[in-house]
Amino acid sequence: MSDTTFAVSVTPATDPSARRVAERLAAELGLPLMESLSPQVGQMLLGIEADRLQLHWGHEPHSKPLAVELTALDTRSPFGRTRRQPLAKAVGLGAAGSPQPLHVVDATAGFGEDTWLLASFGCTVTAVERHPLVALILTDALRRALASNPAAASRLCAVCGEARLVLPTLQPQPDVVYLDPMFPVSKTTALKRKPVRILRALVGDDADAPELFQVAARTARRRVVVKRPLHAPPLAGPPTVAYPGKLLRYDVYMVGSTK
Ligand SMILES: C[S@@+](CC[C@H](N)C(=O)[O-])C[C@H]1O[C@@H](n2cnc3c(N)ncnc32)[C@H](O)[C@@H]1O
Repeated sequence: MSDTTFAVSVTPATDPSARRVAERLAAELGLPLMESLSPQVGQMLLGIEADRLQLHWGHEPHSKPLAVELTALDTRSPFGRTRRQPLAKAVGLGAAGSPQPLHVVDATAGFGEDTWLLASFGCTVTAVERHPLVALILTDALRRALASNPAAASRLCAVCGEARLVLPTLQPQPDVVYLDPMFPVSKTTALKRKPVRILRALVGDDADAPELFQVAARTARRRVVVKRPLHAPPLAGPPTVAYPGKLLRYDVYMVGSTK
């Protein structure tokens, strides 16, 4: 796991209502309150702004705090749609016999980029995230994104919990379970985008991904889709089919009656 320490930030200038929110979140997350917005190396601070939560990371003191902005993802331009096409194909959008809408469980939701893309495609999405601080940032990002795209509201719900325990409880069973566990550390890890660097500092590696795959394969009615780095070995043996992108690959395992 990560060796980063966490706290909720308040400053003397924090307004009283934001201070109350900070105190409540610190109690809920079991984190200390800290009178600073300047984290030390090895520290991550949750900042409460008027309309959003953001993370200040001492490892990168000169960069802006991270606020997750899902509506900034390009899902509509021809370029954006082309880039997202491998994910759409992998979950089975438009495939013969695919239900409408597809119900996808994003069992490793992180900061919710893939959740948001899947909802933008028209899927019904249940997003599951087990790290409480990540789940909080995810819920906050979804709340703000939904305000500017209410059509997606009815298609999305977020659950904070361990997906290996949540998946078997879902009724009806989802059509697709989507998995994007933390990738193994590679030589290029340090170059990855800031949200990914912060996620790694928060959650470390997802070493239990093979067990999660087994539960996903028992839960999905049609497919399990696993996102991998382009040249990484598959998580669970050879997939039924793979959809490569420029840097990533979506491995599809047909399960249940569609096998
Ligand atoms: C690589 S990130 C996912 C990024 C996400 N796909 C996105 O687009 O932002 C992996 C996330 O899955 C979560 N995770 C891994 N295994 C999980 C499990 N068994 N249950 C719930 N969450 C899990 C981790 O805490 C981490 O936040």
